[in-house]
Amino acid sequence: MLYSGLLKKYGSLLSLPSHTVPVTLFEGNTPLLPAQNLAKELGGNFQLYIKYEGLNPTGSFKDRGMTAAVSEALGRKVRAVICASTGNTAASAAAYAARAGLKSVVLIPQGKVARGKLAGAMAYGARVIQIQGSFDQALSLVREISEKYPICLVNSLNPYRLEGQKTSSFEICDTLGSAPDWLLIPVGNGGNITAYWLGFRQYNELKRTGLPRILGVQAAGAAPLVLGHPVEKPETVATAIRIGKPVRGEQALRAAEESGGGIVAVSDKEILEMQREIARLEGIWVEPASAAGLAGLAHEMALGKLKPKGQRIVAVCTGHGLKDPEAITQEMGQPPVSPPRLDALEEILLG
Ligand code: F0G
Repeated sequence: MLYSGLLKKYGSLLSLPSHTVPVTLFEGNTPLLPAQNLAKELGGNFQLYIKYEGLNPTGSFKDRGMTAAVSEALGRKVRAVICASTGNTAASAAAYAARAGLKSVVLIPQGKVARGKLAGAMAYGARVIQIQGSFDQALSLVREISEKYPICLVNSLNPYRLEGQKTSSFEICDTLGSAPDWLLIPVGNGGNITAYWLGFRQYNELKRTGLPRILGVQAAGAAPLVLGHPVEKPETVATAIRIGKPVRGEQALRAAEESGGGIVAVSDKEILEMQREIARLEGIWVEPASAAGLAGLAHEMALGKLKPKGQRIVAVCTGHGLKDPEAITQEMGQPPVSPPRLDALEEILLG
């Protein structure tokens, strides 16, 4: 059967209203790549897989939720969608709105959105507004606006977003034959970890696939769920998860706890180091936030808290590295320059 998107493939398992009119970019169906070089480097005798969500149509996992949310909105004849975003939701909402012939409005924190995401949202034709404040402030604004005007909110407060996003759990179980022992996942607003847990539980009830323990990972400078209180001025190089007041925070904590896992924080240094390790050892370039899950694994292993020997571990890498090229070029500097002559090149390469 030709693949034609998540609603076609898993629609019967998703709680979507009957008025839903599918809008798809053939999202989902992302590879679950073995990552044994990295597992070896981490010093563990275990099976490691990367669920490469950066290979969705707009370069992040948001497309799974957006196909559901925009399809529902189109079906009830909404004319426009709105979201606040650290970037990926913005690009995804704009793309699906474009495909559906809807208008889109996105609010982003000024100066804190990676270039590939902002460019995407603009290219897909969104009305982009930069807010002089944080993501959390932008999100409360879009909540107010969507209550006042007939415009559909497509942040993960929208329940259909979670319905779409839980399909990644289905895919992981379909590929492995059952749930992994551990799932590693970055946490920002808390929507995705909540959706994964919904998905794993649903599949377990339906097909007895078992349940993973979930390790959610926040950036240390934006770790309200680890600290136990909101963070007024979140700061991290992983701008995708630069969030101080996660709206699905309680559900995220519950998902991690119920699964027998937890939520931990890692430093920006750990995130950037892991981002490079994944690329260097596995040929998979992910954006900084997407390296947080694996950075969390390394962190917990170093503390002796997580002993993965003999286990199957899946790390969700949520967004593509191309979204945020500066995260690499600023850290690693410019490559050397050579005149167009063999001797000069030899000097650089051999000298
Ligand atoms: N990874 C990436 C690449 C993200 O863009 C996000 C969230 C997350 C992880 C965390 O997911 O919020 O469901 O816990 N990005 C949102 C956005 C906030 O606006 O694009 P979460």
